[in-house]
Amino acid sequence: MERKELLFAVNPVFATAKGCLGLLSHTGIKEAADLAKVIDLTVPRSSDTPFEIIRAYMVSNEARYHIGNKMAEQSGCDVVIDLPCGYVPRGLAISKAGKQFYGLDLPAVVEELEPAIRGLASKEQNELMHYHAVDATNLDSLKEALKDASGKICILMDGLLGYFNKPELDTVCHNIRELLKEHGGMWITADKYSKELGAVTFSALTDSDGEIVKEMMEKGGTRVADIPINHTVMQGSVPEAKKYFADLGFEIKEVTYKEVLPDLMSLKDQPEDMDKLRKAYDDIILWVMTVKSCKKTDTENTKKFDVNFRTDGDQLQCGIAGRLDTITAPELLSGFEAHKGTDLNEIIVDLTDTEYISSAGLRVLLIMCKSLPDKNRFHLKNPSKDVLEILNVTGFADMLNID
Ligand SMILES: C[S@@+](CC[C@H](N)C(=O)[O-])C[C@H]1O[C@@H](n2cnc3c(N)ncnc32)[C@H](O)[C@@H]1O
Repeated sequence: MERKELLFAVNPVFATAKGCLGLLSHTGIKEAADLAKVIDLTVPRSSDTPFEIIRAYMVSNEARYHIGNKMAEQSGCDVVIDLPCGYVPRGLAISKAGKQFYGLDLPAVVEELEPAIRGLASKEQNELMHYHAVDATNLDSLKEALKDASGKICILMDGLLGYFNKPELDTVCHNIRELLKEHGGMWITADKYSKELGAVTFSALTDSDGEIVKEMMEKGGTRVADIPINHTVMQGSVPEAKKYFADLGFEIKEVTYKEVLPDLMSLKDQPEDMDKLRKAYDDIILWVMTVKSCKKTDTENTKKFDVNFRTDGDQLQCGIAGRLDTITAPELLSGFEAHKGTDLNEIIVDLTDTEYISSAGLRVLLIMCKSLPDKNRFHLKNPSKDVLEILNVTGFADMLNID
């Protein structure tokens, strides 16, 4: 498998971000149109999406883009972090305003985006822009990416939290809290309202119910993620979600989209629609989160990732040490491809030294299991309590044999 294929296999969610750039490039934002020209935008999409829904997605993407830039500007922070940056050309806008910009996303995105966006930036902008491949569930990757960042950080997060299962969401929130404790600053996200954003925009522009958009977004998310997305507080009620974040030590201030929405280029010829949208955006709320206590929690040192394979007749044994996530899962998959042979009948995966498994890791375990003629001959052995909980919560314990 080529690297691009490996990256797609372990975490296909990144493909959604290409769709966002596609939409943004038609709104009149020049840097988005320029970037779209350089990047191959071929994304699998359903051709039967009605025009009015595509228009609502386009308008809401333009709103998100400008609002994120404005919030970053008003934050008073020296460093703006776009996590996940997707293929959005925010680095060009933030660096043009003279601020340090860090674009963080999965390796699949950063490896394609960085050369393209750097080619569109001036020398001064290039010096202010930093791009790093991370997995938001992997604290070491985040710390490494920000090791030279100096000053308070403003983390903009658009379109991420809804994709996580419960253990991943817990880990990401923990990681963001650690970053804010270390650097100071704030975390800004309207991710609790991401489905409402599409629905409310559609409803304001068409004077109709937005439920159809919510349904489409839900189905689309599951289709792209490729494995079931488990219910978390991000799909639950607002009070439930607020309590979850408060319990993790975040203080939440609310800013409505209405308060910070500029006039949009995609509605420049429809002022009445712009007025309706502004009113409707009173219901879309950004959470500006800071950490209440600045006491540093001890974070355990993670084991170095390692994977080893041993073939015994038609049986393949595989041991995994450390964290299995989007950063490390490609190594497991390429090792498996190299060792699987032609007469493979049984796989035993030893999880004794595995510390954590994200959706990307679960996808690779599923690929390995599905490669066998008889799925019952795929065994996971010795998971720790934490890993077993991940397998239980994600439903994988029901799909795979655990000894
Ligand atoms: C819906 S897109 C949003 C991108 C961008 N913020 C935007 O508004 O267009 C979701 C993004 O999340 C990224 N992503 C998914 N899982 C991630 C993870 N564990 N760590 C970091 N980024 C992740 C994907 O690569 C993709 O770029």
